[in-house]
Amino acid sequence: MKLIERPRRLRRTETIRALVRETRLSPDDFVYPLFVCEGEGVRREITSMPGVFNFSIDELMKEIEAARGAGVRSVILFGVPDEKDSVGSQAYAEDGVTQRAIRAVKREVKDVLVIADNCLCEYTDHGHCGVIENDEVLNDSTLDLLARTAVSQAEAGADIIAPSNMMDGFVAAIREALDESGFEHIPIMSYAVKYASGFYGPFREAAQSTPQFGDRRGYQMDPANAREAMREAELDYEQGADILMVKPALPYLDIIRAVRERFDLPVAAYQVSGEYAMIKAAARLGWIEEERVALESLISIKRAGADIILTYFARELATRLS
Ligand code: PBG
Repeated sequence: MKLIERPRRLRRTETIRALVRETRLSPDDFVYPLFVCEGEGVRREITSMPGVFNFSIDELMKEIEAARGAGVRSVILFGVPDEKDSVGSQAYAEDGVTQRAIRAVKREVKDVLVIADNCLCEYTDHGHCGVIENDEVLNDSTLDLLARTAVSQAEAGADIIAPSNMMDGFVAAIREALDESGFEHIPIMSYAVKYASGFYGPFREAAQSTPQFGDRRGYQMDPANAREAMREAELDYEQGADILMVKPALPYLDIIRAVRERFDLPVAAYQVSGEYAMIKAAARLGWIEEERVALESLISIKRAGADIILTYFARELATRLS
């Protein structure tokens, strides 16, 4: 009689399943994205992202303390300024809301890594990620402003700069500016592969950064392209990126895997606002189990090859995992 293969032997109990488990999530993998706005005592929930808020700096401190208590050690900050203009001045203002928030976190919360998102779209009145001329986003004049923004974020105390605007040459421009200002020790986590995605919808409500005309397809990538993703990652690698990010995450697991296999840098993946919103919405309707589906999405992102996961679930799930 032919012996049959019995893989079920290793699935019989939770103990044995834990013993042979190949991938594990830990709060150390997580980066918690947070939105900081002006004012005091502000804690405004984003309609399309239950559990995610615009926080004024005082409230942000409370949230980060609580997240730290739950085991989250890294945050990424997005500024939501009151004043927006055509060149995004508040992105690189010394007393901009993001700079003040970074200083406050570094002063008041011990042992939390602060990553600064580096882009202009939350700070421009037209909502695009760079300087506009004749309805076009100019590449090279935008680079100067991103570099200024990076230096001001590092001066405020940011531990890592995360450029997200997809201009050509942004990593080199930021690296050079940081080095010239004595910040050669500050790493760059580049949004190397960022797709022009419908999954950013809820973020644009949170950051009030919807483009007032057109869209971002002239600088973010076409969802249909995988080889081009390798080219983008290669360029950022050559320009000195320390960490390569792929974004969004779940619809692009193949890209995460490809970047993982091709480069030896740490790989980050961003589970974006729309991915979060879909899970929350379906769970609210009682159609899926929220925690289970959230954990399954995150483990798949890690299994695909991500070392670092940016997720709005960070605080909620950290408690569950530690
Ligand atoms: C740009 C930026 C965006 C996100 C992170 N950085 C928005 C965009 O490109 O429109 C989206 C993140 C999310 O959807 O959660 N500063």
